[in-house]
Amino acid sequence: MFEWYPLLIVGAIVGLFSAIIFVAYLTIKDDQAGIGFDRHMSDREIIRRLLGYAKPHWKTFLVLLLIMILSIAYDVLSPIIVGDIEEILSAEAGFTMTALYSRVAVFGGILAVSVACLYLEMVILQRVGQKILSKLREDTFVHIESLSHAQLNSIPVGKLVTRVTNDTDAISRLFTNILVNLIKNFFVIIGVTVAMFVVNVQLALMVLGFSPFIVLFSFVFRKFSRRAYRRVKDGTTDINTFLSEHLSGMKIIQIFNREERKREEFNEKNRRLWRARRDEIRVFAVFRPLVYMLYIASVLCLLYLGARGYIKETTFLGQTITGGTIASFYLFIGTFFNPIQSLAEQFNRLQSAFASAEKILTIFSMEPEIVDEPDAIEPEHIRGEIEFRDVWFSYVPDEWVLQGVSFHINAGETVAFVGATGSGKTTILSLLCRNYDIQKGEILLDGVNIRRYRISCLRRHMGQMLQDVFIFSGTIRSNLVLREESFTDEQVMEACRYVNADSFIGKLKHGLDEEVRERGNNFSAGQRQLLSFARTVLHRPEIMILDEATANIDTETEQLIQNSLEKMMTIGTMLVVAHRLSTIRGADRIIVLSKGKIEEQGTHEELLAQKGRYYVLYQQTLKREENRKKLSFDQADLPEKQTEGEFGI
Ligand SMILES: Nc1ncnc2c1ncn2[C@@H]1O[C@H](COP(=O)(O)OP(=O)(O)O)[C@@H](O)[C@H]1O
Ligand SMILES: [Mg+2]
Repeated sequence: MFEWYPLLIVGAIVGLFSAIIFVAYLTIKDDQAGIGFDRHMSDREIIRRLLGYAKPHWKTFLVLLLIMILSIAYDVLSPIIVGDIEEILSAEAGFTMTALYSRVAVFGGILAVSVACLYLEMVILQRVGQKILSKLREDTFVHIESLSHAQLNSIPVGKLVTRVTNDTDAISRLFTNILVNLIKNFFVIIGVTVAMFVVNVQLALMVLGFSPFIVLFSFVFRKFSRRAYRRVKDGTTDINTFLSEHLSGMKIIQIFNREERKREEFNEKNRRLWRARRDEIRVFAVFRPLVYMLYIASVLCLLYLGARGYIKETTFLGQTITGGTIASFYLFIGTFFNPIQSLAEQFNRLQSAFASAEKILTIFSMEPEIVDEPDAIEPEHIRGEIEFRDVWFSYVPDEWVLQGVSFHINAGETVAFVGATGSGKTTILSLLCRNYDIQKGEILLDGVNIRRYRISCLRRHMGQMLQDVFIFSGTIRSNLVLREESFTDEQVMEACRYVNADSFIGKLKHGLDEEVRERGNNFSAGQRQLLSFARTVLHRPEIMILDEATANIDTETEQLIQNSLEKMMTIGTMLVVAHRLSTIRGADRIIVLSKGKIEEQGTHEELLAQKGRYYVLYQQTLKREENRKKLSFDQADLPEKQTEGEFGI
C-alpha cells in the first residue's frame, strides 16, 4: 500500500484543481452571443458553401493532406527512435558505434523529411490561401457592385469595407491556418496514441488516463475564453467605429474645439479594450499552467510507474518496460499534450471565422433588386425623348416622395426642375437612371419603358452630374476617363476645353497627370464641378442629367461654369435641377415641384406671367443673387445659407 502514496499525492493535487475549476465552471453564466454563436446559419451550411471555394483546389488540398501526414512522422516516430538509442547506449554488452550511427541517421532523415514537408505545407497553403482570398474579395466586391442604391443604403459603408477586407481574410485564415491545424492536430493525437500502444500498453493507458482532465480543463477554458474573446471583439469594433467616424470628422472636431472631449471618449474605449485584452490573457495564463500541471503530473507518474516496472521487470501483454520505453514516453507525453491544448485554444478562432463567413454569405444572399430583363434591349443610339407617366415612388413604404408625376421632354430639350428642398427633384433624376425602381406608373425613354433597356446601356446614354461631385484619388486623367483606356489625350483635352476646365488644368504643374487626393480635396468646389462636366462630356451621352451644386463658387469660376452649362445644353436632352437664375433662364422649359407633385410648368416668361409659386421663388432668388453681388469680397468657401422657399437643394 505504502508504495502507492506518491501516486495518491499527484492524484490529490490534480483532483483538487479539477474540483476548483469545475465549481468555477458551474458558477459562471455562459454568454454565447456575439462571437458567432448567435448565428442563423448552421455550421454545416457554412462549411458546405465555403467548400465551394476550396473545390477548384481539391488536388492541392489532397497533396497537402499527404504532405501533412508525412510531416507528422517526426512527432510520432522520433520518440521511438530516441527510446531505441537509449537502449543501445545502456546495453551492457554489444554497443557498437554503427548501431548508434544508423539510429541517428534515421532520426536525422525523419527530421529532414518533416522539416521539408512543413516548408512545402506552408508554401502551398499560403499560395492556395491567397488564391481563395482574392477570389472571395473579388466575388464580394462584384456582388456589392450589383446591389441597388436602396440595398447599399441599408448597409453602412464601414461594414462593407470590413466585409471585403477583414471578413474575407478571416475566411482565408480558416482554410490556411485553423482547419489545417485542426486536422493536423487530430492526426498527431491519433498517431501518437497508436505509437504509445505499440510501445507499451500499460503506460499508454496511464497517459490516456489524463485525458478526462484535459477535456474538463478545455471545456472550462472554452467557456471563460469565449467571454473574454467576445469582450475583446466588442472593444475592437467599438474603437474601429469610433475611429472611422471621428477621423473623417476630425476637421469639425477641431473647428468646434472638441478635442479634449473626444480624447476622453477615446481613452475610455481604449481602456476598455485594454482591460478586455488583459482578461483574455489572464484566461490563458490560468489555462496553460493547468495543462502544464497535467503534463508534469503525467511525467511524474511515468517516471514512478515506469521505474517500478523497470526494476520489477513487469511484463504485460509480452511488453517489458526498459529505459528506452521511459525515454520514448517522456517525449510522447509532450507531443500528446500540445495538440490537445492548441485544439482547445483554436476553438474561438474557428467560431469567429465562421461568424465572418456567415456575414459574407449573407451579403451574397442579398439578391440584386434592380436587374436586366432576360431579353433587355441595347440600342446603339437613342434620341433622348423622355416621358414620366403618372409616376409614384417612395423610398420607405407608404411615404410617397413622388405622387403622380407626369411630364414629357422632347429630344434635345433642356428642362429645369425647381422647387423647395425635399420636393423630389433629385429623386426624379435618379429614377431616370434606374438607381431605384418606381412603384407605380411608367418612365419611357424614346417611347419604351426604361425597364426594357439593359441597365448598362441606359446608364451609358445618360451622363449624370451629381450634386456632390465624387472625385476618386488618382490623376485628373484617370478621373475623367474612368478606366476606359480608349480616349486619347487630345480627346480628353478637347472635353476639358469644351467645359472651360482647360484653363485651370493648364496651370497645373503636371497637367492631366496632376495627382488628385482622396475626394479631390486639393481642388476647389468649382474646379471639381468643371471636372465632373468634363467627365460627362467626354463620354458623349445623349442625355445630360445635372443636379446643380449649391456651394458658393467664386465669381470667376461661376462664369466658366455658366458658360459651359450653356454649351452642354445644346449637346442633347438635358434635365437639370437648377439653383442659379442663369441656368433656369437658359432652359427651354421649367417644371416647378412641390411636395412630390408638379405644380406648374412652362417657359420662364409664361410662369412669371402666371404669378404663381415660380414667381415667388424667382423673386426670392433674384434678391439673394443681387445681395451676393453687392458683397465686394469673394466668399467662395462660405457655406450658403438656405432660406425656405428658394430654389432649394
Ligand atoms: N435615400 C433616401 N431614403 C429615404 N428617403 C429619402 C432618400 N433620399 C431622399 N429622401 C426623401 O425624399 C424626399 C425628396 O428628396 P430629394 O429628391 O432629394 O429632394 P430635393 O432634391 O428636391 O431636395 C425628401 O423628403 C427626402 O427626405
Ligand atoms: Mg436634391
